[in-house]
Amino acid sequence: MLSHSEVTADERPAAPLPGHPGGVLHLRRGGTSVVIDLDAVPHPAIVHWGEELADSSDETLRNLAVAARPQRVSGGLDEPARATLVATQAGGWLGTPGLEGHRDGASFSVRLELVDLQADDHRAALSLVDRDARLSARLELRLGSAGLFHQQLTLRNDGDSPYTVQALHLTFPVPWDATEILDTTGRHLRERSPQRHPFGYGTHLRESRRGRPGADATLVLAAGRPGFGFERGRVHGVHVAWSGNHRLLAERSVSGEAVLAGGELLAPGEVVLAPGASLTSPDVVGSWGDGLSELAHRFHDEWRRRPAHPRRARPITLNTWEAVYFDHSLERLTALADAAASVGVERYVLDDGWFVGRRDDTAGLGDWYVDATVWPEGLHPLVDHVLACGMEFGLWVEPEMVNPDSDLARRNPDWILRARRSLPPSARQQQVLDLAHEDAYAYVAARLHALLDEYPIAYLKWDHNRDLLDAGSGPEGVARVREHTLALYRLLDELKAAHPGLEIESCASGGARVDLGILARTDRIWTSDTLDPLERLVNQRYTALVVPPELMGMHLTSPVVHSTGRTVDLDFSAAVALFGHVGIEWDLTATDDETRRRIAAWVEYAKSIRPLVATGRTVDVDGTEPGIDVRGIVANDGASAVFTLTQTDTTAAYPPGRVRIPGLDPARRYRLRTVGGSTSAAAQSGLSWQEHDITLTGRELDAVGLRPPVQYPQRSTVIELTAEN
Ligand code: DGJ
Repeated sequence: MLSHSEVTADERPAAPLPGHPGGVLHLRRGGTSVVIDLDAVPHPAIVHWGEELADSSDETLRNLAVAARPQRVSGGLDEPARATLVATQAGGWLGTPGLEGHRDGASFSVRLELVDLQADDHRAALSLVDRDARLSARLELRLGSAGLFHQQLTLRNDGDSPYTVQALHLTFPVPWDATEILDTTGRHLRERSPQRHPFGYGTHLRESRRGRPGADATLVLAAGRPGFGFERGRVHGVHVAWSGNHRLLAERSVSGEAVLAGGELLAPGEVVLAPGASLTSPDVVGSWGDGLSELAHRFHDEWRRRPAHPRRARPITLNTWEAVYFDHSLERLTALADAAASVGVERYVLDDGWFVGRRDDTAGLGDWYVDATVWPEGLHPLVDHVLACGMEFGLWVEPEMVNPDSDLARRNPDWILRARRSLPPSARQQQVLDLAHEDAYAYVAARLHALLDEYPIAYLKWDHNRDLLDAGSGPEGVARVREHTLALYRLLDELKAAHPGLEIESCASGGARVDLGILARTDRIWTSDTLDPLERLVNQRYTALVVPPELMGMHLTSPVVHSTGRTVDLDFSAAVALFGHVGIEWDLTATDDETRRRIAAWVEYAKSIRPLVATGRTVDVDGTEPGIDVRGIVANDGASAVFTLTQTDTTAAYPPGRVRIPGLDPARRYRLRTVGGSTSAAAQSGLSWQEHDITLTGRELDAVGLRPPVQYPQRSTVIELTAEN
């Protein structure tokens, strides 16, 4: 790293003069530039985050910094304040502070100043101090290989008394013309529903206080030019890579600055730094793009380049939950395994209900021993059978939870998270274990290791079925969400290290714990408990803003969807599950030969395209007629693509007008092939392009498009495009 000693605090002017050509730092990588004015007061301010700037000359960078400096105005400060990297009131900032804390009520003022900087072309480490407040900080800025902008701050207490940290946010300035906000909300069975808002003056705040991100969490908080879509419209977004409580905000100030900011949400007294102790924030990650797809691709590309990214073909999975719920018996589950193997399933996952006392959801959590009344020989007969069928075996666990009706809770009531003598409000008849309690951690870890040692378990479905409320270390204790989350991370890391090849799924009542903190130590997320393809279309599209599709669990449903009661077509369910980690959640023993033949055909097709799904680029088509959804995955080299044309509802036009197929190589000529059975049951006669075996270039398919097939509502047509040149 280069040392930018020329910008140490002693050498910098106390306040830059208008037009002062001070030090400017330019980080660039993966199509992104971050330009930082090192002379902003009291410490650096980001001048630009977004499109990579071709001209990186000193003069241009200086000019950019000068052009961004605010003027002094009536009614304002003599030295106009900026949304600097860790902006606080002592530096003049009147918006949400980047850092808040105190020493037993005193020393609330913070003004961090730059004292040292280490940087190379895409990373910078800024050392900041406040000698009055006796704090020091290290702010790490990094551009990832695909242009994601990472910020992480470590704050140290240099004083001789404890320092309470109240809030710590990382700030990402966005262009002033980003006047529309997109975030997500949701609930169990409907996670990540998008919502849009005008980005006006003031603060738009999204907080997660559930001890996990929650079904209603916003996966990203994005701000862009009005009307930005997936294909076009500049947009910036921020994600907090953390599985505990977090906060994201968008703030527009009357001093002409618009920022996105995010960090961990701390409960009162949750972090009190002893003298010499420090706190490191989560990694807060910014992405941007001309359209949401580009923003998403930065996440996908960078995530896929990690050494730990699961690279082997994602095994087609059968999960037993909706097939049998708690009704476990060797006979029933081996029959299900046979049926699964017959349609090409590669991983069989035994869901909830296998351990002591777990005959329904009122008891047993915490007693992680196989229930001998149901499984007199343990799980061995089932596991052996699954392996003999040529499948891997996976097992459901919910290690952080405990039912009050369990031996564990009866023996160790003090292992349960609580902040008062009474227990926190109950949810699904369960409470949360204090994983930060040494003995509780040791017990859970020992049970998981024992199960993994005894059985050839390739995969754990790690569930988490309630919010953490009033999560304290005991009556009159301290808030514990942060420590609990760190203990969870440690446990996952230890299990992975001790059992090489083990894969873990992050499930939380469906998709209530989806974030890059958990995904850094797991191999897929359970995207939602709803298997309704119609609902899944929205959920999957917005989950894929951050999560690469191959890490999103997507399962074929039984014909009558358990969560919505809707009767759905198999081809529709399969088409919607195709662009993810495909599985089945259905009692296949109750299906006839013809249905199994059709399922097997879809499984075979899913296997054939999974290399494309695991490496290709997602395409979400904007501006389609209401009632039609077009999306696809295009190979990076443009040689092939698969698209689904889904009729979500009836259309006003009949037959519907043309749809575009964008995202292909404009110069290449593609042959189109429809996959699977015809779903065009409403049409009077055939669709011309299907009958004539045509080819069109990527440019033509985007600019001109083609007629979608006439379909009943809630049907999909899958088209494969193969380049011929
Ligand atoms: C919630 C999960 O999301 C479901 O898939 C299932 O595993 C149940 N928990 C089991 O209790």
